[in-house]
Amino acid sequence: MTFIAKNIQANGIRVSYLEEGSPNGLPLIFIHGFPFNKEMWEKQLSVLNETHRCIAYDVRGHGDSEPGVAQFSIPQFADDLFFFMDALKIEKAVLVGLSMGGYIALHAIKNQPQRIAALVLCDTQCAADSDEVRQKRTKTIAFIQKNGLSVYAEESLKNLFAPASFTAKKDEVTFIQNTILKSPAENICYTLQALADREETCSSLSLIKVPVCILVGKEDKITSPEVARKMQVLIKDSSLHIVEGAGHLSNLENPEEFNEQLKTFLTSISY
Ligand code: MLT
Repeated sequence: MTFIAKNIQANGIRVSYLEEGSPNGLPLIFIHGFPFNKEMWEKQLSVLNETHRCIAYDVRGHGDSEPGVAQFSIPQFADDLFFFMDALKIEKAVLVGLSMGGYIALHAIKNQPQRIAALVLCDTQCAADSDEVRQKRTKTIAFIQKNGLSVYAEESLKNLFAPASFTAKKDEVTFIQNTILKSPAENICYTLQALADREETCSSLSLIKVPVCILVGKEDKITSPEVARKMQVLIKDSSLHIVEGAGHLSNLENPEEFNEQLKTFLTSISY
């Protein structure tokens, strides 16, 4: 890891996070996808730290953050985020969430809109799981409990990355594979259940009053550009950019284009 991690107590758990850049100004809080951790944002932190206060943290039970005793759920993760912001004395922030990070950001803005200055929703969606996806998650939990993580990690990679990334972005593929393999299997299972149980946020998108930037990999098989377009239609002050040569992990697969879009959005919003 390029950056040195710090720890802070928030909502009864130790939260591990990276904090880079100028301490002044509105913070950007990066929320990772599942089952990853704060390290997936290093290519964003190393560019945006020149202009912004950048914070990337590990969600409860991911990376080096403690799981605690609370049941994992998206509302719990959104609550944790506000306790984390309190611990860092952050009143208001821009949230940048990828996939599960986007689910958390959308729950957070529904509950406490006054604490969010803008949203960047990457490779994510507002819909809840369909019955089919929920059943698949139940089977995956049983599979991991029986067989461990190696086959699960291998299968996940196929859905996470665009086909070309397996040759062009070998380091990123290995990084994600190792991230999955290093995760405690039981925490992965608890989060799979939390994802399956999450509620939709599509019905609250029209209430969002802050600027929103939506980014999605052109070849995202999990949360497609079509799904992103549907969100954009529902959010008043929003823009959509489709990232070339990327699947579900657009910030890792095409960081140049991703960062350019992020910088343009951050320059365009007045805060
Ligand atoms: C993620 O990247 O966070 C996951 O793909 C989310 C999900 O499985 O719904």
